Amino acid sequence: MTDPIGAADALKLQADFCDHLGSPFTGRVLRVLARDIAMGGIVEDLISGFEDEPVAAALALRVAGALHRRALDDPSGPLGEIYAAAGGAGPNDDALRAVLVEDIAQNRPHYDAYLEGPPQTNEVGRSGVMIGGYLSIAEQTGLPLHVFEIGASAGLNLGCDRFFYRFGEEVWGDAASSVSLAPDWQGGLPPLHADLQIAERQGCDIAPVDVGQHENQRRLESYIWPDQPERLARLRGAVSIAKELEIRVIHESADVFVEKAFQAPAPQAVRVIAHTIMWQYMPEDMQARIESTIRQAGETASGESPVAWLRLEPVDVKDPPSLRLAVWPGGETQELAIAHPHGASVKWL
Ligand SMILES: C[S@@+](CC[C@H](N)C(=O)[O-])C[C@H]1O[C@@H](n2cnc3c(N)ncnc32)[C@H](O)[C@@H]1O
Repeated sequence: MTDPIGAADALKLQADFCDHLGSPFTGRVLRVLARDIAMGGIVEDLISGFEDEPVAAALALRVAGALHRRALDDPSGPLGEIYAAAGGAGPNDDALRAVLVEDIAQNRPHYDAYLEGPPQTNEVGRSGVMIGGYLSIAEQTGLPLHVFEIGASAGLNLGCDRFFYRFGEEVWGDAASSVSLAPDWQGGLPPLHADLQIAERQGCDIAPVDVGQHENQRRLESYIWPDQPERLARLRGAVSIAKELEIRVIHESADVFVEKAFQAPAPQAVRVIAHTIMWQYMPEDMQARIESTIRQAGETASGESPVAWLRLEPVDVKDPPSLRLAVWPGGETQELAIAHPHGASVKWL
């Protein structure tokens, strides 16, 4: 049986993160659910069986995703109406709890099934940081890029060169793009004049999301917080670009994929291993193997066939993500930026 205090605390902890990351609505929903657990309500029963969840926060995210999914699928129902107005004041906590609890009771098979699967996200906002790294690679090598993204989810950030960006007073990209990103920008600018050509793009994931199937796109949408409609809009825009570019993410573990990326030479192109917020999900021995494969490829890299490693990851899990780049020959790590986990703000160093 789930420890009711532990489960409620896990929801409250994630609620604080949601507040901090700009979703007070999700924060409020999770606190209301935590109160239901403390009162011995249906939420305690819903999450029982997940007490061994290694990352308690992921359970909270799955519950939040399951509720949002129901709201997206039934927009004119009581839950859908509250979620559609999520940015406003909405009902008081008691009324909100009544609607949440009723929806869970009426649609229990949906909630049970949703909790079984991992959260699935592909945060397009991270392109607002990564694009500066790709521009830096283009500037430093003067060559087209072959991008290999590990843990790419649906591969939406592999279309980043087709998006439009506003960096303070400066802009970059296709003004007519269906994805427009304007992170809150501090510090200097990436080399916007660089001639960025992404000649090849490939992605891998151990749970790739094929957005060609509507069900999968909906699942990604459900993990966007309902009071962040701009994130939902750019997800949908990025899905249409990914379809146009026919981006495919193969089902493969990152260590195998990175080895294969270096098997065939790529003359007159720079091979880039890229990743965003996925490193922490791999065991340490796999991390070490991947790093060693990249460094070995770096040792044999030349000016006509360089190698780059571009990563947006926290150095320590508690830190904000930082954008780091290494380009071989040379291979010195360059600290390019510090960013909000979803790319909402960027400090270019
Ligand atoms: C938090 S998501 C980030 C997805 C995407 N990079 C983004 O920033 O939106 C982490 C991703 O890493 C993937 N992943 C975890 N371990 C992996 C591995 N060993 N090889 C490939 N992908 C992995 C997960 O399936 C998931 O899609």
